[in-house]
Parts: sequence; structure tokens; C-alpha cells
Amino acid sequence: MPTVLKASCKAPTNIAFIKYWGKKDEVLRVPENSSISMNLDKLFTITTVEFSPRFKKDSFQLKNEKTEVKEQQRVFKHLDQIRAKARITYKAKVMSVNNFPASTGLSSSASGMAALTVAAAAALKLKLSKKELSRLARLGSGSSCRSIPDGFVQWQAGNDHKTSVAVSLYPPDYWEILDVVVIASQEKKDISSTVGHSLAGSSPFLPVRLKMMPEKIKKLKMYLKQKDFSKFASLSEQEALNMHAVMITSNPSLLYWTPNTLTLMKQVQRWRQEGVNVYFTINTGQDIHLLTQKKDLNKLVSKLKNLKIVKKIIVNKPGRGARLIKKHLF
Ligand code: DP6
Repeated sequence: MPTVLKASCKAPTNIAFIKYWGKKDEVLRVPENSSISMNLDKLFTITTVEFSPRFKKDSFQLKNEKTEVKEQQRVFKHLDQIRAKARITYKAKVMSVNNFPASTGLSSSASGMAALTVAAAAALKLKLSKKELSRLARLGSGSSCRSIPDGFVQWQAGNDHKTSVAVSLYPPDYWEILDVVVIASQEKKDISSTVGHSLAGSSPFLPVRLKMMPEKIKKLKMYLKQKDFSKFASLSEQEALNMHAVMITSNPSLLYWTPNTLTLMKQVQRWRQEGVNVYFTINTGQDIHLLTQKKDLNKLVSKLKNLKIVKKIIVNKPGRGARLIKKHLF
């Protein structure tokens, strides 16, 4: 009986408090700056990968969604890097399922590439440490390297493949802050993050952003250590706006917000004045992440439910990183 080269992984998406925007090395995805995130316990991708000499070519299927040729090629390219490490040339069958809509700013590439990396490496019997898995995932999508370790995570920018790696700062149960994901639209974004990153250097504000970064990271880590929610979340909101200032002032300009995003941002600032301790952060999509704590959750949810534009809300706690699971998708 030949050995079955098959494995499955469940990997979370993550939300960055300090964002990754711009790359020093586009091929290795070495970022311009370090970033800090937490894994989300309710938003994830499950992926099953099987390698076999029976398969004539690679195949990738995303359950309940269509995939574009570009996405397929990105998956196959990543499989090539993992196959090269294992010195195996067998073709693969990959099936994934997301429990949230892809390409709306909810970081499906983070959970997707993390799940693909861990499942493919296990299927090929590669024995890799968390750090090695994080580096490998980074080659598929930068932010996915932060979905490998548990809880609150720092991705050290580094300078090369070895030094650019994500590690856990605190486990998920260290601090129960909440990320309320608000889905206001299910349209796909027009410009991928990968293309967006390559434009970062065209903004006159990127050097200013990078100059401020070490101090900002130091402060955020201090607030995280002190569990000072207001300071932590307020700095995260400012940081998201800082990244979007670079995006908006790139040439061509990247404007990822929709009128609904802006409505929600304004509401959040208003609710804060009314005494609800809530802050926003946004990635490259129209959906918005609201940072809050348990004591403010009910008030926030009832305010959100009164807004017509809100289609769905998902309340996340800090979650664990990518994990192998026994149940396969095929
Ligand atoms: C705005 O990791 O999606 O979400 O490395 O090209 O795949 P690639 O980019 P990606 O960029 C994420 C950017 C961000 C900020 C963040 O998550 O840190």
C-alpha cells in the first residue's frame, strides 16, 4: 500500500494593529516595517492538500466560490516552493473552504496561505518548526506568516528570508479584547494587496510613516503589556489611518473605502463621544473591524443593528494559530 500524502489544516485570519504596507523584497515578501496582529477565533480557512503520482496536474478548488486563474496560479506557485523543500514533484489536489467572503478586506489570503502551507508541509512529511512554517507561509502572502503562531503576534520585518519571521507575543487568553467584524458590502475589491504594496513607494508619505514606526511599535507593545485598552485601540485606529494616508496618496491613488466604510468610521467616532469605548481599523477592503471590550459589546451591537448598511457582524476573540486537523474536506 503506498503512503497517502494528505493533510488538512484550519488557519485563522488575523487583524493587524500595526499594519504591513510596502515591501523591501517583493519576491521574498520582506516587509518595509514590522507589524503586530492578533488571530481571530471566528474567521478561518480549512484546507486539505493531497499529493499523488496519480495526479496529472495541480488543482485548486474553493468551496462555494469561483476562483480566478490568478488565484489558482498563486496557489500552485506556493506548492512549488513547498515541493522544492521536500524534493518531491508529485502534483497536488487542494480544496479550501472559507467561513467568510473572500477579497472584501477580511484577509482571506492570510488564513488561506497559512492553511495551505501547514497542510502541504504536513502532507509531504516535512518536519518544520513554527518559525520555519511562518517563513514559508510568508512567501505565499506576507500577512499569512502572522496566522501561524498563537494569539498576539509580532512579525519582525527582518532583512532576508531567515530574519523575516512572525512569533507569538502572548497566548490568546492573555487579554480578552474583541474584534467586531462588520460586513457592509460583499463586493470584491478592485486592486489586490499585492499590487497595492508595490505602489507604497510612490507616496511621499511612506518615508514619514517608516520613520515613525519604531516609536509606534514600542508604544503599542507597551499598551499591550499594560492592557491599556483605550490607548492600545486608539493607537491602532491612528495607525490604520496612517496606512490609508499612504494608500490614498500613492500614484495611482488607492482608495479602498466605500461610502459605507466612511459612514461606519464616522459612527464609531460619534459612539465614542456617547461613551462606547470602540475604535476602528481597516485593511484593503470595504469591511471594517471594530475594537472593543466585553463591557461595551451589547451597546455596540445594538447600535450596529440599527444601521441599515450593516449586513452581518462577527464578534471575534483572540484566537490560536494554524493547526492540523484530522477531518479532511475530500
Ligand atoms: C493592509 O499580506 O495581503 O492587510 O504579501 O502581497 O499577499 P501580500 O499582501 P497581504 O497584505 C496585507 C496588508 C494589510 C495590512 C496587514 O494585514 O498587516
